[in-house]
Amino acid sequence: MRVAVVGVVGRLGRALVAALEGAPLTGGRPPIGWDQPELELDTVTAASFGALLDRERPEAVIHTAAWTDVDANAREPELAMRRNGTAVGEIARACAARGTDLVFISSNEVFDGRRTDGLGYRPDDPRNPINPYGAAKARAELLASEAFAGSAGRLAIVRTAWLFGPPGNDFPAKIAAAALRARAVGERLRVTGDEVGTPTYAPDLAAAIVALVGVDRPPVPGSVAIHHLVNGGRASRADWAREVLRALAIEVEVVDVPAATWERASTPPLWAVLEPTPLPSGVPMRPWREALADAVPALRRDLAG
Ligand SMILES: NC(=O)c1ccc[n+]([C@@H]2O[C@H](COP(=O)([O-])OP(=O)(O)OC[C@H]3O[C@@H](n4cnc5c(N)ncnc54)[C@H](OP(=O)(O)O)[C@@H]3O)[C@@H](O)[C@H]2O)c1
Repeated sequence: MRVAVVGVVGRLGRALVAALEGAPLTGGRPPIGWDQPELELDTVTAASFGALLDRERPEAVIHTAAWTDVDANAREPELAMRRNGTAVGEIARACAARGTDLVFISSNEVFDGRRTDGLGYRPDDPRNPINPYGAAKARAELLASEAFAGSAGRLAIVRTAWLFGPPGNDFPAKIAAAALRARAVGERLRVTGDEVGTPTYAPDLAAAIVALVGVDRPPVPGSVAIHHLVNGGRASRADWAREVLRALAIEVEVVDVPAATWERASTPPLWAVLEPTPLPSGVPMRPWREALADAVPALRRDLAG
């Protein structure tokens, strides 16, 4: 199977390239990779993306590229809607017209995070974004779904949350660096305690997506499947920080503070928990703490460097 990945230099994109290279479904061939400047979310159209499809002829496209700085999205909502919303509609229209399958990576931020019943969001729960990044992702889901109505191709919307992993500069790396700074001046580390979600290791997510592309074949062309793919378990940001520091043996006390403590351009949905959907193997993604252990050697190297 010929698979194209949009956004190959991103955290998830590079994990997908590695997962696809070793996957039986690609016969070990590296995926086709698109990124800037060949593909620019500000300007992509169904015609320009269609030209890429006609040139490389993939059977499936995994669209990971996005403007992921949620605060920058909040400061420039129109640009956010273009890059994370309407650009996805253009890509979806090009795929749908050719019967090419599309996997679009979306986010827990399509939900408002105001849930109080302790349950994770399910795929059919109503979208109600509370910030421009989430609004753009929600619009993208709708545009892609509309594009695939009646198409010979299939659309999979994969919602995930709280990604971490190579190449670093993620929440664990930022917490470790902040803790070292706090320790140097004898301070405690203040971390949000009322924002709860599931840290998700990009290589684990990539493996799950590849499994879906290879095995999950909805019988009805033009169908739309929504998947919630996250590691197992849940944690507050502060819990996550404590686990990172424990794994790195950095002794700094973490103090829970409310999200409202931080003045931010974007409003994070406080309940970021997604109810995971089943994978073709029937085996759920492993708990996030186990996945974090795999990320620790790279975190240590980065701190030492
Ligand atoms: N990170 C999270 O916690 C999280 C949570 C839920 C969902 N998601 C979604 O998961 C997907 C992957 O996230 P990630 O963490 O891997 O993102 P990432 O590391 O920020 O990578 C984003 C990718 O998009 C590309 N990109 C950004 N702006 C672009 C533009 N204007 N035109 C073309 N390409 C552009 C980047 O290329 P350059 O580096 O060249 O700019 C990069 O390849 C995204 O769709 C994201 O919205 C992420």
